[in-house]
Amino acid sequence: MRLFVAVDLDPSLLDRLDAYVRALQPHVSGVRFVRRETYHITLKFLGEVAAAEPLIERLGNIRQTEFALRLAGTGFFPDSRAARVFWAGVVSHDLAALANEVDRALEPLGFLAQEEFHPHLTLARNGSGRPRRGEPAGGKSAGGEPANKAFAQLVRRVASSEPPEFGTMTAREFFLYESRLSPAGASYTKLARFALSHAG
Ligand code: 2AM
Repeated sequence: MRLFVAVDLDPSLLDRLDAYVRALQPHVSGVRFVRRETYHITLKFLGEVAAAEPLIERLGNIRQTEFALRLAGTGFFPDSRAARVFWAGVVSHDLAALANEVDRALEPLGFLAQEEFHPHLTLARNGSGRPRRGEPAGGKSAGGEPANKAFAQLVRRVASSEPPEFGTMTAREFFLYESRLSPAGASYTKLARFALSHAG
């Protein structure tokens, strides 16, 4: 099964993201936006994994306090010229620390730690939206495929508008997700929930 670890968003933030995307859509026909019900902030992508139980056990040992995060601004991976992913920015002091804890928890099971963590929420993908071989997810690359027409339109539209502000929330939990790919798009199922402890 194909697994990843992610943080979910509060409904108020989902509403704001949804409203933003709906306002953009009529101006950028052909862009494949992510469905609202699949929005998430990826902490770590694990790929194909034979059994979830050892991961669940290790992730369950993570002790971190709940923390604030803010969603604001947008951008493109790897850059606006060769855009493959359109994202909303995540501003958080503690999200990277949680991603690091996830890395450390899973390293003994053979999952390599991420070289760099680029906190983001994917709003749309161009093609597969995935990095090519040898290129880190969200990493900067020299060159790359040119953005398709629809994505180029999106890049122009975004460049000419004010950076959006989506709001803030408290992250109180994270999840181990299974991703199932199909021609209709990915569907995600929660396999386990991990609570963050109360602050103070
Ligand atoms: P992203 O959308 O936040 O970039 C489930 O597939 C999630 O794992 C995706 O939403 C994506 O996160 C991330 N993901 C999928 N394939 C990946 C890959 N090859 N490398 C890194 N992250 C990947």
